[in-house]
Amino acid sequence: MKDRIATVLKNVPVSDGIWYMTLAFDDLDGIKGAQFLDIKLPDRSRVLRRPFCICDFDAEKKTADACYAVVGGGTEVLTGVKAGDKLNVLLPLGNGYAPEGKKIMLIGGGMGVAVLPAIATANPDKEIHAFIGFANKGKVVLEKELGKKCASVTVATDDGSYGKKGFVTTVAREAYDEMRPDEIFVCGPEVMYKAVKKCFDGVKTPIYVSLEQRMGCGIGACLVCNCKVRRADGEGYVRVCKDGPVFLLDEVVL
Ligand SMILES: Cc1cc2nc3c(=O)[nH]c(=O)nc-3n(C[C@H](O)[C@H](O)[C@H](O)COP(=O)(O)OP(=O)(O)OC[C@H]3O[C@@H](n4cnc5c(N)ncnc54)[C@H](O)[C@@H]3O)c2cc1C
Ligand code: FES
Repeated sequence: MKDRIATVLKNVPVSDGIWYMTLAFDDLDGIKGAQFLDIKLPDRSRVLRRPFCICDFDAEKKTADACYAVVGGGTEVLTGVKAGDKLNVLLPLGNGYAPEGKKIMLIGGGMGVAVLPAIATANPDKEIHAFIGFANKGKVVLEKELGKKCASVTVATDDGSYGKKGFVTTVAREAYDEMRPDEIFVCGPEVMYKAVKKCFDGVKTPIYVSLEQRMGCGIGACLVCNCKVRRADGEGYVRVCKDGPVFLLDEVVL
């Protein structure tokens, strides 16, 4: 992990309330899928950095991207950042996800989809099938980007205004029996992990989830981001920023 100065190459809206930012660095290597970056906002009144998944990256061009929803004051400030501006960014953070199997099922819900392209970029030798779900057509993002890197992309919307109608977890479960992936990776809101636990009950394939918690330091020092896990040696707390954000679903106490 390094504290770096990034040059903003692009910061543009891509969908309803969702923006895409590309950052260029002097050096950038060793990025795995499902890691995150932590941006210092260009606003002195907001001291805490804001964490975002490394949505995608280009090791040759030394760029990393973030795809973010505007949900509050900090992300509103970020929308004012222009190409050419400099930002202080910590990256890469977190344990990341390096699949061992060959055939991987990725499931993303809402802004959880933002973590998926980097997993495909970091694992070009894997057969990756992405299932991405949104509330409606206006919220769909990253379908094209994933289409360039994955063996297949299936979109679901809750209201059926685009792609398959229904929750993405149900759509993925329907495809699972025929697809038989070696591993499943899920990113989305906690309610989605509960749904995955329920609909994939009895399935032996390892299921990994990327957790999101309110964060302070982002580097394992403040314990703000604790989450409860249950392992062979008993229950305990882990830091989402440093020990995660990726955990086995079976271990996470939801
Ligand atoms: C590891 C990690 C990766 C993330 N990746 C992405 C991403 O790729 N794209 C994206 O859009 N967002 C992502 N988030 C969430 C993002 O960090 C928050 O939305 C952002 O910090 C909100 O800042 P704000 O100042 O605009 O909002 P605030 O004014 O601080 O809060 C506004 C709203 O956002 C919610 N919020 C704030 N921080 C978080 C948080 N850490 N997690 C969940 N909700 C939060 C608050 O509960 C509140 O409802 C990620 C969070 C973590 C911990
Ligand atoms: S945010 Fe400080 S320990 Fe995780």
